Amino acid sequence: MKVLLTGANGYIGRRLKHKLLKDSNLDLTIMVRNKNTISSLLPNVKVIEGSTFSIPSLEKVLHGIDIAYYLVHSLASKDYEQKDRLSAQNFINVAIKCGVKKVIYLGGLGEKNTASTHLKSRIETGEILSENGNKLQTVWFRAGVIIGSGSASFEIIRNIVQKLPIMITPKWVETMAQPIGVDDVIEYLYQGIYLSYNQNVIVDIGSEKMSYKNMILNTAKVMHLARHLFPVPFLSPKISSYWLTIFTPVPYNVASSLIDGLKSEVIIKNKNASKYFDIKPKSFNDSVSQALLEIESNQVLSRWSDSYGDIWEKDHIKDIANAVFFDRQIRDISEISHHKVYEAFICIGGDNGWFGYDFLWEIRGFIDKLFGGFGTNRGRRDNCTLRIGDGVDFWKVADIVPNKRLLLFAQMKLPGKAWLEFIIEDNKLIQSAYFYPHGILGRFYWYILIPLHFLIFGNMIDNIIKKAKST
Ligand SMILES: NC(=O)c1ccc[n+]([C@@H]2O[C@H](COP(=O)([O-])OP(=O)(O)OC[C@H]3O[C@@H](n4cnc5c(N)ncnc54)[C@H](OP(=O)(O)O)[C@@H]3O)[C@@H](O)[C@H]2O)c1
Repeated sequence: MKVLLTGANGYIGRRLKHKLLKDSNLDLTIMVRNKNTISSLLPNVKVIEGSTFSIPSLEKVLHGIDIAYYLVHSLASKDYEQKDRLSAQNFINVAIKCGVKKVIYLGGLGEKNTASTHLKSRIETGEILSENGNKLQTVWFRAGVIIGSGSASFEIIRNIVQKLPIMITPKWVETMAQPIGVDDVIEYLYQGIYLSYNQNVIVDIGSEKMSYKNMILNTAKVMHLARHLFPVPFLSPKISSYWLTIFTPVPYNVASSLIDGLKSEVIIKNKNASKYFDIKPKSFNDSVSQALLEIESNQVLSRWSDSYGDIWEKDHIKDIANAVFFDRQIRDISEISHHKVYEAFICIGGDNGWFGYDFLWEIRGFIDKLFGGFGTNRGRRDNCTLRIGDGVDFWKVADIVPNKRLLLFAQMKLPGKAWLEFIIEDNKLIQSAYFYPHGILGRFYWYILIPLHFLIFGNMIDNIIKKAKST
């Protein structure tokens, strides 16, 4: 069976990829927007570069495919509703033309008339994909809150539970939802391939029904923490979103789109999950325990921020060549193992810190949070390894060449674009901070930070070398 996986770098796609790779009956093709983001796959898996906004690339990718997963999502873009419509329409048109038999899609639980803008857009995507039931089958799964290590909803719950013993909450914490563990979601998606029913079908999936308040309290119980919630009527969605932005790793746009969705119930409306699948979803508490275990043992397979968003579309990476300002530090490393130097700088950020003056990075992170950015509490997925696409506090890994290069692209709120690069070349470690300013404000920003850069960057490279020598 020839199966295509799209969205393979996203939160769900990365985990589904692992599941599909274990099934030797499948001839798997993976579509990504940038091939460098996929590493060390099995030799029989095809990786093809493509975008749902490029019809020729879709024609190439969908040629000969029997079943296609549609896990594409443009939430990080400002105009995501429009983009997601076009993306689904292009995909389904080409899928029909190429003779694809089945499309499997994961959307959200909820009703269109009460849905948030984000959920409405997910429903529209499902509707577009299901428009041609006579030509191709669409299996449309609908899940509410997904509980798993690295999922945005779970990271929010975990962070507020960890940090706030007493919470003044908005009324919506009483809204009912039906969460589900990420492993169960992946199992449903996987079994969708073997579903014998061959008409369009919507499959609502979830575990036990509970309010958001109980999700928070149950998580606290699993974490052995005593927490108290006091719902009040006056907390607006805006204040709640700022609150979550400050206390959790998500930026304002993600917090506000999630908060927007919490006003209406997200519960199962059909029994197709039990009718067509033999899966018993884990309880909420078991899913929380599993997620915590993965976090504690550094086994987080994917995170909510893994997707590149619009980085590829906007040439942010290539723009490094246009940087106007830079701070470059060079040190001789002829006496040290290059591998150790690489291992030292690849550990940068998150709980490992920034090789000195961490309090300055924390202050910058807090300012970023105030402006609705990622701040520094996003941390790292894994303390020792990095892969292209990983978030590192308010940076994104744009490139890695093992034992040679690490390039970080700044996702912090900035009047311009910034990159931080480490390269090992000719027995030298070269560390460069690049900045491409936007207008006068951008230039002013760079000049005002020169004294701090002087302190931070010289110290950073020296401490990297110290660490390499000491290991
Ligand atoms: N995560 C949840 O908690 C959750 C809950 C309920 C339902 N769902 C549903 O599950 C589905 C997947 O969600 P997710 O959280 O995994 O999404 P995600 O992490 O945001 O990933 C989105 C994926 O789409 C890819 N993509 C974006 N634009 C593209 C384009 N033009 N062409 C090709 N690929 C493109 C991205 O590729 P790049 O890596 O190149 O950016 C990324 O791999 C969505 O339909 C979502 O509504 C998710």
